Amino acid sequence: MTQMSQTFRAASIAFAILLVSSAAWGQKSRPAGQPLPSGPADVENRVDSLLRLMTIEEKLGQLNQLSSVWDTVLHRSNASASGMQMLREGRVGSFLNIVGSEATASLQRIAVNETRLKIPLLFGLDVIHGYRTIYPIPLGEAASWDPELAEETARMAAGEAAAAGIHWTFAPMVDIARDPRWGRIAEGSGEDPFLGSAFAAARVRGFQGHLLDSKSLLLATAKHFAAYGGPEGGRDYNTVDMSERTLREMYLPPYRAAVRAGVGTLMSSFNEIGGVPSSASRHLLTDILRKEWQFDGFVVSDWNSVGEVETHGIASDRTSAGILGLTAGVDMDMMSLIYVDELRSALKDGRLKMAVVDEAVRRVLRIKFRMGLFEDPFRGASTVRERAVMMTQEHRALARRAASESFVLLKNENGVLPLTESTRSILVVGPLAESKDDPLGTWSARGEAADVVSIIEGLRRGAPSKTKVTYVRGCGVDDTVRSGIAEAARVAAAADVVIAVLGEARSMSGEAASRSEIGLPGVQEELLRALVATGKKTVVLLMNGRPLVIPWTAEHASAILELWHPGVEAGHAAADVVFGRINPSGKLPATFPRSVGQVPLYYNHKISGRPASEANSFTSKYLDVAWTPQFPFGFGLSYTSFAYSELTLSATVMRWSDSLVVGVKVRNTGKRRGEEVVQLYVRDHVGSVTRPVRELKGFRKIALDPGESKRVTFNIGRDDLAFWNGLMEHTAEPGQFSVYVGTNSHAELSAEFQLEE
Ligand code: NOJ
Repeated sequence: MTQMSQTFRAASIAFAILLVSSAAWGQKSRPAGQPLPSGPADVENRVDSLLRLMTIEEKLGQLNQLSSVWDTVLHRSNASASGMQMLREGRVGSFLNIVGSEATASLQRIAVNETRLKIPLLFGLDVIHGYRTIYPIPLGEAASWDPELAEETARMAAGEAAAAGIHWTFAPMVDIARDPRWGRIAEGSGEDPFLGSAFAAARVRGFQGHLLDSKSLLLATAKHFAAYGGPEGGRDYNTVDMSERTLREMYLPPYRAAVRAGVGTLMSSFNEIGGVPSSASRHLLTDILRKEWQFDGFVVSDWNSVGEVETHGIASDRTSAGILGLTAGVDMDMMSLIYVDELRSALKDGRLKMAVVDEAVRRVLRIKFRMGLFEDPFRGASTVRERAVMMTQEHRALARRAASESFVLLKNENGVLPLTESTRSILVVGPLAESKDDPLGTWSARGEAADVVSIIEGLRRGAPSKTKVTYVRGCGVDDTVRSGIAEAARVAAAADVVIAVLGEARSMSGEAASRSEIGLPGVQEELLRALVATGKKTVVLLMNGRPLVIPWTAEHASAILELWHPGVEAGHAAADVVFGRINPSGKLPATFPRSVGQVPLYYNHKISGRPASEANSFTSKYLDVAWTPQFPFGFGLSYTSFAYSELTLSATVMRWSDSLVVGVKVRNTGKRRGEEVVQLYVRDHVGSVTRPVRELKGFRKIALDPGESKRVTFNIGRDDLAFWNGLMEHTAEPGQFSVYVGTNSHAELSAEFQLEE
């Protein structure tokens, strides 16, 4: 190139950059809450203009996401130097795991000042249930059956993370999980697609909002697409094999709900489904996600999941894995570096078309433009803002409310809870009572143990002034040492009530934390048996990240309160409920089995040709354990009681384009104000394919004073009755349906109607 043509090229690039940047588009500042002045067409024009300027390296760079620890993972020599060099060359589109406004800004400055095209970076992080203020684990929040609560905690978490320079969260995790051995059940909303969809949409609204341009919110990611929650044996990363019908009916709805709520990105999962790794599945990533659902954001791979396409065994080398991933629809490559390192050669030899690369780059840039990153690459993040928004009183108050709302009262014999002033001495026992780390649960972003109010701290602060609270540890979470058990039982003999805080360490659920036995780990049950043997009333507070198998506890404890991993306000929230300032109202988002051998056990199962029956041995059951769960989906008690009556349907025949109103009267028959989650289930009796015994189709949380009653109504439309029929069409079929309304998935109050064409 001559000197003159070089100068000319540089000048035209500068001019074009000016065109795609804010000044030329007059988007400098605008009042908060106003829609972006550039409509979709403007964004598309800007994307196209920019794309035309990009070299192959720069295009592949936009599709490349590096982690702060990428060098150690990939064992490259002199890696961080080459990482910075890659950034300067425009070969990095996004970073993950870089946190703090200063760290993110220093890299962003390089991107927008030193790279040729000055394209801003996206900074991603797993902000799953809080950034610094840690809320209950998502499974716990789902137990509140209050999607608005999850929306609020997501919004607050986004606010903290955004102030620290994060743009993008890898949440919500919306994987349906029917197997509690799978450790990542903690990160989702449990076993049900209807409940899961409500939480998926709420969390997208909370983290991200409608537009992508709010500087106090984050770009959200629905993950892990798809069906990562269905691995064989509950073993993380394992094979998923299910029918297309089960996939579509049970596993896909929450991702769909997230897309409908406007989620900007999805993450492709590690697992294969029916022989095709998700990160190379055109069927999932293009046919379903983009064509059927019209998703126009971008897909990021999970960590090295494009690289693992080779390990799965459908690609013979990294380049082929990359070609498969990109053509299937994985736009951004998290940490395999295949796109940036290997795809140039594939473009050269024609194995990969430039149009495929361009389309992926277009999707990434589209999101960056929509987020306003070209106008303000730093999005107002600063140490001053970090200090101002981090862990405010308001956030702590929300964490406390979220935690107590997520607690599920599983047993309360003779109303032993709440404890009153007449309880003069309480012995708190158990390894998790004093832990300030475990209440944070899996994925705690910038959460700090020092911020946590432990259970014992909370109980001490919250106990009535004349109640003495003492603590002995008894045993560790997972150890085999029994020496503390006798001492704990000896001290228990002198107390009025024993509170045993038992369960799982936070490392026992989450990623790579599947368990084959899901009872109380270590010798904790032995400790409990010794305490119960003293004859003292023994209240069990469970802290765990999954449904547990606890048949002995269920039978012998006086009361059981499920806390999950409750977050920074663990102790305060536990005390609120134990001492009755708050009446528990949580309901299980996943079935508690009686034995691990029953797994998978879920309420919306098929009936089979031989439904289980006491009277007939040749039916679907076990010789050694009941077929029923320990605690069913939707189950949870209250300090008051509720009676359901007067179930009504607006008609007994529902015409094809009509809807039906289901009404029920709920009365608080106890002595305390309380909240109840009223649940509606539907059963389709005869279909062209078999249908679940019942399916959740509505829920409403209501508050009732003692003696008060309310009429709760639900609308059922034809869409609510639709399923994937024998021809794999999504439609309802005429025929007989039952509705069940009540306090959990075993609700008995029922009525019938006919759907007519
Ligand atoms: C792997 C996990 O599966 C995923 O959920 C997470 O977002 C990424 N790592 C990034 O940390």
